[in-house]
Amino acid sequence: MSQSTLFHPLAEACLLEADTVAAKLQWIDALAACRADGRLVFAVTHPVKPASAVVLPLKPRLVEPRELPGRNFTTHSGRVAFFHALAHIEFTAILLALDMAYRFHGLPTAFYHDWLGVALEEALHFSLLNQRLAELGATYGDWPAHRGLWTTAEATAHDVLARLALVPRCMEARGLDVTPGMIERLQQHGAANDVALLQRIYTDEIGHVALGSRWFGHVCQTRAIEPEAAYFSLLQQHLHGDLRGPFNLEARRQAGFSEQELTRLAVA
Ligand SMILES: [Fe+2]
Ligand SMILES: [Fe+2]
Repeated sequence: MSQSTLFHPLAEACLLEADTVAAKLQWIDALAACRADGRLVFAVTHPVKPASAVVLPLKPRLVEPRELPGRNFTTHSGRVAFFHALAHIEFTAILLALDMAYRFHGLPTAFYHDWLGVALEEALHFSLLNQRLAELGATYGDWPAHRGLWTTAEATAHDVLARLALVPRCMEARGLDVTPGMIERLQQHGAANDVALLQRIYTDEIGHVALGSRWFGHVCQTRAIEPEAAYFSLLQQHLHGDLRGPFNLEARRQAGFSEQELTRLAVA
């Protein structure tokens, strides 16, 4: 039987030590291999480091959103900007999911398996988008990228309930709201391969948000708190009313949002 490997130090090496995209992906590959062999153990070896200590890759250069190049589907540079922005979202999503499994303790083993599984799926999305960029003659890191995506991780690092509400059930759920519109625009430009790629990502993302809903419900249950009230209170606390719609109610329903939550979102 193969030796067991601790998840915690590998995740920490990926999040806190590796400072390039390639180095981080190597750790993700190592985690995937250990997981496939069934030899990963989710035990905590030492205190977790703050989310502010997580090292983002040296490239891409992170800038304010207004400094980013315009995205569209009619020019080559617009398409590169579009896929580069998506690749950045997926790369950050790898780190967000891994950090979920690294940072929060005392949850059932399934929680850690689920979020590592999400990290690996995000890595697949990233590699598909990076392949698409390569076809366009670009690579992730060549262009500047949005500075703000890790901010929510730092703001919610103190509490798994806040992290679940704000990352899968808000940031990723927002992806479900906007992706059908992107797919439609790609369809109008006859980009069948790109449509298939975004559709695949969209389907997987429903699963990520569904896991967010499931674990949000679990944590609420263990704390004996009412989930709808807790969710909207966390949104209010972190977004200060800046909750952007329109919402994709059907996708959110599939992703475990309750009817009560959807009704409240529909009037937000
Ligand atoms: Fe993804
Ligand atoms: Fe995701």
